[in-house]
Amino acid sequence: MSTPSTPEKYINPEDAFKEQLLFNLVYCSQISAGVENTDVDTIIATSRRRNSASGITGILVFGDGVFFQWIEGPKAEVTALVKLIETDRRHELMVILSEDEEIRERIFPTWDMELVDAENIQEVLQDALETAQDQKSVDALELMLEKLQERN
Ligand SMILES: Cc1cc2nc3c(=O)[nH]c(=O)nc-3n(C[C@H](O)[C@H](O)[C@H](O)COP(=O)(O)O)c2cc1C
Repeated sequence: MSTPSTPEKYINPEDAFKEQLLFNLVYCSQISAGVENTDVDTIIATSRRRNSASGITGILVFGDGVFFQWIEGPKAEVTALVKLIETDRRHELMVILSEDEEIRERIFPTWDMELVDAENIQEVLQDALETAQDQKSVDALELMLEKLQERN
């Protein structure tokens, strides 16, 4: 019986905890109309498969129809993934909240994309609004907050 081949960029658990040049990006977005919780499970399954092959780790926070994702890994891979996510019609109003590249350990070394339930996504968005740098982000965040308040 042959052993399954290791994907080229598979993160060796020892390397995951090493300090290295890492790019991280945080964004939030709103789930599109008609997209269900089961679709979020599909997103997570795809993400786990694809991310582990490209050295990407992070978390996807989901609550009240709002996504909040932290992605970390090599800059080229993270940038390519974000381009893909930006065109995904399962969500809209995507706002990039921060991006940064530095030498450090991964924050989520063992999570190739973990789904986290948001206890209070409104608070997360409010915090993001207070630190938002440009008008486009402020507008999108305010719109998301308005939609949340309408529903609650
Ligand atoms: C909120 C959200 C988060 C996503 N996060 C990831 C991710 O971390 N990794 C990933 O590969 N795809 C992610 N996707 C899915 C991508 O947009 C894209 O559909 C997928 O990578 C394409 O994979 P496939 O060509 O193998 O079907 C996400 C989609 C959404 C809507």
